[in-house]
Amino acid sequence: MSEKKKYSPQELNSMSNDELARLGTELDGVTVAYRKERFPVENDPASKRASVSVGVFLGLSIIGALGFLLVYLFWPWQYKGHGADGLWMYTFYTPLLGVCAALAIGGLGLAVVTYVKKIIPEEISVQRRHDGPSDEVDRRTMTALLNDSWNTSTLGRRKVLAGMLGASGVLAGLSVIFPVFSMIKNPWKKGPLGIQGDGTLWTSGWTLHSKGVKVYLGRDTGAIADFHDSEIGRHAKTEGISRLVRMRPEDLDAGSMETVFPLPADLVNDRDKHDKARDVYEEHMHSIHGPRNAVMLIRLRHKDAQEAVERQGQEDFHYGDYYAYSKICTHIGCPTSLYEAQTNRILCPCHQSQFDAKMYGKPLFGPAARALPQLPIEVDEEGYLVAKGDFIEPVGPAFWERRS
Ligand code: FES
Repeated sequence: MSEKKKYSPQELNSMSNDELARLGTELDGVTVAYRKERFPVENDPASKRASVSVGVFLGLSIIGALGFLLVYLFWPWQYKGHGADGLWMYTFYTPLLGVCAALAIGGLGLAVVTYVKKIIPEEISVQRRHDGPSDEVDRRTMTALLNDSWNTSTLGRRKVLAGMLGASGVLAGLSVIFPVFSMIKNPWKKGPLGIQGDGTLWTSGWTLHSKGVKVYLGRDTGAIADFHDSEIGRHAKTEGISRLVRMRPEDLDAGSMETVFPLPADLVNDRDKHDKARDVYEEHMHSIHGPRNAVMLIRLRHKDAQEAVERQGQEDFHYGDYYAYSKICTHIGCPTSLYEAQTNRILCPCHQSQFDAKMYGKPLFGPAARALPQLPIEVDEEGYLVAKGDFIEPVGPAFWERRS
């Protein structure tokens, strides 16, 4: 390879940007194999048409991004049940966000592609690679090349397009960044204690027990709320439908598992307490959707239960052969849904953590480092499975308040 000529700072200072750019191309071993201006004739109407099409895409992008921000900030987003006022508006919240985000990002992408395809000169360059760090000449000529690229792009002349491109880039970026703020919450901010806890990370529907509420282990029947015919016509009331029902120990076979949810006594609407006129479906669904509510009720085979090892302080948390563990994986919170009856292992499908149901939910394999929190349970005087207390440690991924 031929030796590079050394240029003094004075020589470099005396060169124009074009000369420096050309020099950089040569020094970098770049050969421009093909180059063709898109619009060699000045004031070519085709140039204007190309600018307009880029401008249209950028305009769409700006409208989409502004729409996204307005919908995100002002459209009614809070959940509305069947038949509730404002359901129609609420239904459009997510689709509108999706359409606006697609316009914002898609419009920007199409504008950039159109600009490159229709306005920037067509060029094919080939570069030979070399080793080692760049010297002063390379750095100076690289800067000149970047300046040259800016000139070649003609964006400097197309002020309107450059402004629109900037606005569209900023707004499309905001439409991506804005939703992140919804995920920021104060983990210590308490609200009223309800079926999903009080808003802090260490409470759930089971915490109602600590306020003196009797909480049953509710089995999910999968019943669907539907339209009902009545004297006022067809409407979306859910009267009489009970999504969660109480469970007795005999409802579960040995060597099997069932996911249960907190069912406070005042929301029971089954068997002898069934009242067709009651509307409890929505509250039951809130319990099912509670982020820390799901519990795996496992009935070990009697022989296995004899060998079970209790964790210190949790010796009386089980009821006979029945053990209740949080379903929320202590790794990063997936549902640990798979119970293997042969080995009494609970498997999280996300990253294959395994927990031992015979040994207080202790992790045996995989990335989870902490045991699944165990819910203390018992059977009440009527023979239904109920919580005997709340979890004694926070449910879900490990964080600093956990004791294990
Ligand atoms: S979330 Fe369960 S193993 Fe990762």
